[in-house]
This record gives sequence, structure tokens and C-alpha cells, in this order.
Amino acid sequence: MITFALAKGRLADKILKMLPTIGVDVPQVKEDDRRLVLCSADGKYRFFFSKPSDVPTYVEYGVADFGVVGKDTILEEHRDVVELLDLGFGICKMCVCGPKDKSLNYDKVIRVATKYPALAKAYFEKNNRNAQFIKLNGSVELGPMVGLSDCIVDIVESGRTLAENNLEVKEEITTLSARLIANNASLKTKYEVMFELFTGFQRWVGEQNDKNFKK
Ligand code: PRP
Repeated sequence: MITFALAKGRLADKILKMLPTIGVDVPQVKEDDRRLVLCSADGKYRFFFSKPSDVPTYVEYGVADFGVVGKDTILEEHRDVVELLDLGFGICKMCVCGPKDKSLNYDKVIRVATKYPALAKAYFEKNNRNAQFIKLNGSVELGPMVGLSDCIVDIVESGRTLAENNLEVKEEITTLSARLIANNASLKTKYEVMFELFTGFQRWVGEQNDKNFKK
């Protein structure tokens, strides 16, 4: 049996729609489904649904063979997993953002609110900036709005949350997208079946690229 750990939410919806196109039988998931583990009718596949930040943990410990998760989580969690493929969806940017029309003063210790303290720290250190990091678990944009921080490090997708809260991108750190990850040992012990699935994923990514090119 091959087990997939999937980040709950938009990425999981997309991957569950994509899997049948590469021959993976996927159980029906209802809109208000609360089940956390699902098995395919043919008994070949099992799917876990977890918080994004936990996906690399399940994969590192080998309870899941494959995982699908955003690059943001991979960079933040630093787990011992193999990153196999950029799936090309869930594209967004990791940015430093702050109040509109107010520049950030890097001469003093700057306060940064973020869900990604490790990633933010690495970026600020690389740029030789002194900063204090405040971990938040959501609605990070509140940080500078209520005076908790000078800026945030967070994901920007459409830019709507920033625009509607009088914030703007100050610096782009990196582009992010969904990635296929795998457990090191599984790649050896289940090589044939995992390689076949991997080539299916690869083919699917190629087809999406062709479609986008022809648009
Ligand atoms: C993410 C991110 C931003 C928002 C960006 O939050 O942390 O807040 O989406 O998207 P946009 O650029 O399209 O507006 P999410 O919706 O995951 O919820 P959270 O704030 O509770 O983490």
C-alpha cells in the first residue's frame, strides 16, 4: 500500500482531482467530510489529511510514502524528506510586507510577525539585518496594523488581504508552489511502484505546462 499525506485545503482538493488522471483510485470526499484517513476501493492507496506543517513530519517518519505540500512548509520545517517535483499549482510568493507608504527602518531592530519564523530568520540573517521574530498562527497581517510588529513575512497570493488592510509588499523573498515529497526509505523499498507514480506526476506536470504554453 502507498500512503499519501496531503495538506488540508486547496492543495488537497487539487491533488485529489489530479490523482485519477494518473491512475490512482481516489475515494469520494464529501464537502463537509471530517474523516482524516481514507483508503481507495482497490486497497492500493491510503490518504492522510493533516495541517500543512505536519505533512513533512509524516513523510520523514515514513508513515506516509508521498506528501503534497507547499514549498513554504518545506522551507520552514526542514524535515529529512526528498523533494521530487514542483507540481506547478498553488503558486504564490513569500514576501516581507508592511504599511503602505511607510518604509521599513533597518537601522534598528525590526519586529517581524510571521507564521514562518525559521524562513524569515534565514532571510533577515542573509541580508545582515537585526530582527526580532514574533510567531503568529494566522491573520498575520494584523501584526503591523495593531502595533505588534513593524512588518510581516507571509504568503501573498492575490494580494487582496494586503490591499484591503492598507499593507504592501516591500520585498519578495521567493516564489512558492505545491511540491511532491517522498520518504527516503520508501523510495528504496517501494521503488518500482513509487517510480511509476512519480512518472505519472511528471507526465501530468508536463501536460499542464503544454496547456499553459498553448493558451
Ligand atoms: C494566507 C496568507 C495571507 C493570505 C494571502 O492566509 O497567510 O493571509 O492567505 O492571500 P491573498 O494574497 O490571496 O489575499 P490563509 O488564508 O491561509 O489564512 P490564515 O491567515 O489564517 O493563515
